[in-house]
Amino acid sequence: MNLSLNIGGMVNKPQPISPGTVLAGGKLKILSRLGVGGFGEVFLAQTESGLKAVKVVETSDWGQEEYQVFNAMFMSEASFLRTLSHPGIPKSDGFFAEGSRYFLMMEWLKGPTLEQYVEEEGPLFLDEFLGLVDSLTQVLGYLHTQCEGVIVFGDLKPANIVRRESGSYSLCDLGLTSFEGSKMSRKIAVFSPNFSAPERARGGASHISNDIYSLGATVYFALTGREPEKTLHVREQERLVRLALERQSEDWGRLALHQIGNLIILLLACLDPDPNGRPPSVRTLREAWQRTHAARDSELQEASGQSTHSIMKHLYEGKKF
Ligand SMILES: Nc1ncnc2c1ncn2[C@@H]1O[C@H](COP(=O)(O)OP(=O)(O)O)[C@@H](O)[C@H]1O
Ligand SMILES: [Mg+2]
Repeated sequence: MNLSLNIGGMVNKPQPISPGTVLAGGKLKILSRLGVGGFGEVFLAQTESGLKAVKVVETSDWGQEEYQVFNAMFMSEASFLRTLSHPGIPKSDGFFAEGSRYFLMMEWLKGPTLEQYVEEEGPLFLDEFLGLVDSLTQVLGYLHTQCEGVIVFGDLKPANIVRRESGSYSLCDLGLTSFEGSKMSRKIAVFSPNFSAPERARGGASHISNDIYSLGATVYFALTGREPEKTLHVREQERLVRLALERQSEDWGRLALHQIGNLIILLLACLDPDPNGRPPSVRTLREAWQRTHAARDSELQEASGQSTHSIMKHLYEGKKF
């Protein structure tokens, strides 16, 4: 399909989409709105192959420049979605256009975004936090090192992460995803100020260290419920995170707390304005996660072992429990 045939402004604006709207010759029925982003809206839709998420972008009001940026982003998002395969990335279901509207069909990620989850539940508890770091280091590790070419996600932030019913986290929105070294557009402000690396605002080429910065900003938000401000000194950030740990560390033992402390310090180092000061790869972070996970796991096993032990003791002593 040649998407460049439809230049914004040349087609009349169609009726707005709302629950009940039927599109694509009856093949797609809109059920509800899942979210809204910089370029379009995402809806839950009933299709012949089940429930899907569909990103709809309306271009009829757009000028040529906006349209060109969108066209590049939409095509790139559609092709990355089609070629990538990881549990932390929605599966693609193709794309199509109707007049001035563009549709990107994909797997429905059921659950709130990390942004909504933290707004509703408050900062994450440590076990939940560990699960978040697990999911994010896995999917970023996949993009950075396990694909054909090094892929930079480009827009990691709480609104682009969905907490699925299973408790794992998936990325959505591959609109700014690129191969490392691609030139980043400065024509339209497409980056997210408090979550994107400072060098991104200056343009230049994309680099995995952009994602590493955004990972630091995202976990900062997950632990504190606040967006990191560029002016905040690293020491102040560490202090805030320590406070978060103190509030939530009741059943964590010393070794696991020590390891998660190291992990958080490493994650905060991702917020260094100088890309060379950040951890060089997701692997370093993944290893720190593994050490924490192992410590926490053995601590939990020990605790459950202890409770079995105390049950046995009661049994031998002929006590009821
Ligand atoms: N596959 C999906 N499943 C469920 N919700 C989604 C999905 N993709 C996007 N969303 C929701 O829609 C919102 C906007 O989508 P996004 O892709 O981020 O759009 P934009 O590119 O305009 O920022 C997201 O923050 C999320 O709440
Ligand atoms: Mg988005």
